[in-house]
Amino acid sequence: MLKSNNSEVSRGEIPVMTVIEKCELIWRGKKDRKGKPIDKPRTLKVIQSIHTPRFAKTWRNKLATGDNIFVIKSLLKDFTGKINLVYIDPPFGSGTTYKLSLKVGKTQEKTYKKSSNTIKNGFNDIWGETSLDSYLTFMFERLVLIHELLATTGSIFVHLDWHTVHYVKVIMDEIFGRKNFRGDIIWQRTPGHHLSSTMDVMTDVILWYSKTDNLLYHQQYQYLTDEELNEKFPYTEAETGRRFTHEKLEQSANAYSIGEKRIIDGRVVTTKLGWRWTQETFDRRIKENPYLIFWTSKGRPRYKRYADEYLGRKIGNLWTDIQSLASNDKERIGYPTQKPEALLKRIIKMTTNEGDLVVDFFCGSGTTLTVAEKLNRRWMGVDSSEYAIELTRKRLLTLKGSKDLLVEGLCYEKETNPFEILTLD
Ligand SMILES: C[S@@+](CC[C@H](N)C(=O)[O-])C[C@H]1O[C@@H](n2cnc3c(N)ncnc32)[C@H](O)[C@@H]1O
Repeated sequence: MLKSNNSEVSRGEIPVMTVIEKCELIWRGKKDRKGKPIDKPRTLKVIQSIHTPRFAKTWRNKLATGDNIFVIKSLLKDFTGKINLVYIDPPFGSGTTYKLSLKVGKTQEKTYKKSSNTIKNGFNDIWGETSLDSYLTFMFERLVLIHELLATTGSIFVHLDWHTVHYVKVIMDEIFGRKNFRGDIIWQRTPGHHLSSTMDVMTDVILWYSKTDNLLYHQQYQYLTDEELNEKFPYTEAETGRRFTHEKLEQSANAYSIGEKRIIDGRVVTTKLGWRWTQETFDRRIKENPYLIFWTSKGRPRYKRYADEYLGRKIGNLWTDIQSLASNDKERIGYPTQKPEALLKRIIKMTTNEGDLVVDFFCGSGTTLTVAEKLNRRWMGVDSSEYAIELTRKRLLTLKGSKDLLVEGLCYEKETNPFEILTLD
């Protein structure tokens, strides 16, 4: 846009001459001499609307195309403090060119299309080893604004790898506060290729920050296979058929009760170590379950832990149980950096409730949005690649018959909730 300073020029109603005293070029993102942006934030406009609303009458999920910096700025007015979870999987600053695997023509033959530098066909990670400054500027500008958008109970997950994670950790500390760093999730995405002459890189790192101390968190568990369960709970209760293992009731940490008596299942027992439970606890728990105590061959009491009450192995920050997608995986839709739904399922279930708003500002093939949809969360996704947006749109419209994420082994049967596709003005 060109702005001019018209001095003088109207005589009566009709301008007769225009003298341009000052000429100024204004472009999107231009800043004044003090570094303040001088252009107005851009706004999003709907270009396509799909289905009728099922959530709150006023809400439609959103898929926006364009550079996310402008989208994020346009959201500040209405979404500050309203987003419950942000997951981003930005370019890793690796300098890699990603190729897109596309089915072409009637033959449906697979071919590889090199992504160009334009935003049309996929993306290039343009930052190589020499452009860390510009990569960090890119990330910093976006993360500062995303911080504003997060709800007080909200969380952000930033998916990176060795190229930049250590630098981004430090800028995240600055923006979100070190005390809000909840952990670095180490995702083992490959068992290793054993081809490289140096050490294989087998992991990505996902940085997790909350907006405040008051975050929403649901502990997640890893289910064990039947074989693992049988190994962990090797005994069967004769009276009920329940599988169990047994745990100690005496331990030196409770040495204050050495020599004290307990009446357990009608037997009077003393301890040389210390009791874990008071007499009241023994009485209450045995009343709840008369088969609770396991007596060893030496006549010592232990208590039973049952397989049917076991929630699974508590998930920590080392994730080795989620495989990256194999080339022939049914979930694959042909986007080179597509992440597995299981990864997003864990993150979304860990930090949101149904109906919460989940946003991915680098949504690629739409994995986050797909998982949010299947788990009954509201969602927004942004990508600068029109190809990614089209792929995501198709993916969201063909969810029926894909893997259900709530019940293992079932197919997802629901219609996709209404959503709209937006673009920047
Ligand atoms: C690593 S991929 C994300 C893959 C995604 N997690 C998935 O499962 O498919 C990164 C994405 O960021 C997009 N991207 C890069 N720079 C962007 C920007 N400034 N604004 C919006 N999207 C951008 C790329 O087009 C690419 O699709």
